[in-house]
Amino acid sequence: METRIIKIDRERIDEGLMEEAATIIRKGGTVAFPTETVYGLGANGLDEEAVKKIYKAKGRPSDNPLILHISSMEELKPLVDEISEEARLCIEKFWPGPLTIIFKKSGMIPDIITAGLDTVAIRMPDHPIAAKLIAKAQVPIAAPSANLSGKPSPTKASHVIEDMMGRIDMIIDGGDTGVGLESTVLDLSTEIPTILRPGGITLEDLREVIPSVIQDASITDSQKVPKSPGQKYRHYAPEAEMLLFSGSVEAIVEEINKRARELMEEGKKVGILATEETRDKYPQGLVLVVGSREREETIAHNLFDVLRSFDEEKVDIILAEGVGYNHLGMAIMNRMLKAASGKIIKL
Ligand code: TXA
Ligand code: MG
Repeated sequence: METRIIKIDRERIDEGLMEEAATIIRKGGTVAFPTETVYGLGANGLDEEAVKKIYKAKGRPSDNPLILHISSMEELKPLVDEISEEARLCIEKFWPGPLTIIFKKSGMIPDIITAGLDTVAIRMPDHPIAAKLIAKAQVPIAAPSANLSGKPSPTKASHVIEDMMGRIDMIIDGGDTGVGLESTVLDLSTEIPTILRPGGITLEDLREVIPSVIQDASITDSQKVPKSPGQKYRHYAPEAEMLLFSGSVEAIVEEINKRARELMEEGKKVGILATEETRDKYPQGLVLVVGSREREETIAHNLFDVLRSFDEEKVDIILAEGVGYNHLGMAIMNRMLKAASGKIIKL
């Protein structure tokens, strides 16, 4: 299959090209597009045959449901059974933005979207190219992250090209994404509002709107079975083995240096995922800086790109510095923990 790549400037969107992309969606094809979180792989969310193409292109297990992306509030009503007061408050405060809400679904939603569940995940992205594509297509767009299943999510067009070339109809290159981690998934379909996946909208942000919100236990404990189907898979994972270190920064640096020495003596190529503040403290190993501890949004923004870079460098093992679990740190640690397949060393 031939994949067409088009470049769109988010500040000056070419209407003609966007119309072509929207036509592909309307006709049942697949288009990868940028959002403020990560790149999505989109298809008409009301067309079963189109949605099947997404699962096929990604190699995604069919029991993992998809998010529907909308561009206006009018598009929401027909898709859901009801909009609770809590949902209204969250929508008002956080949409458009990196928050996915789980609703009880309406009869309009095909089973393939929800993997047979009676709920549906919906979000309104805060990115002009995504919004334009949805509005022009005039259908809700089903879109998982545009990576091969199990790989780190794409935050640059080059990542999408690497994973999806020859597998989908079109890739819209709209530059780098913003947040860099996937949206927060908030389940409002049950008694207790629960975060199923942490993301750019944090627990602290949500508490201001819904004080009773809790977090699924599996987010910080890889032994617990997640409530969200997608969270149970090995995910965001580089090819190399990864070990995650948590504790005081000094203890982390000391332990990583010790392990790096030992592993290199065994002949291993060692990658170190470091921060601005610590980069000069590692005398050996391939050191890549993910961002600054002072500004964790930089770590979120770069994390998946750095994981892919370690693979390009063909390291055997990645020793990664952890961060705290507050605010955006929660989402960062959740992704790092998955990339490390749960292997965390607490110091
Ligand atoms: O930021 C994002 O959310 C990106 C961009 C493209 O919008 N999309 C994304 O989609 O991350 P995906 O498919 O990679 O992740 C969707 C997550 C999965 O963990 C899935 O299991 C969960 O949402 N999910 C979807 N529908 C659900 C439902 N009805 N109940 C519980 N979890 C659901
Ligand atoms: Mg994904």
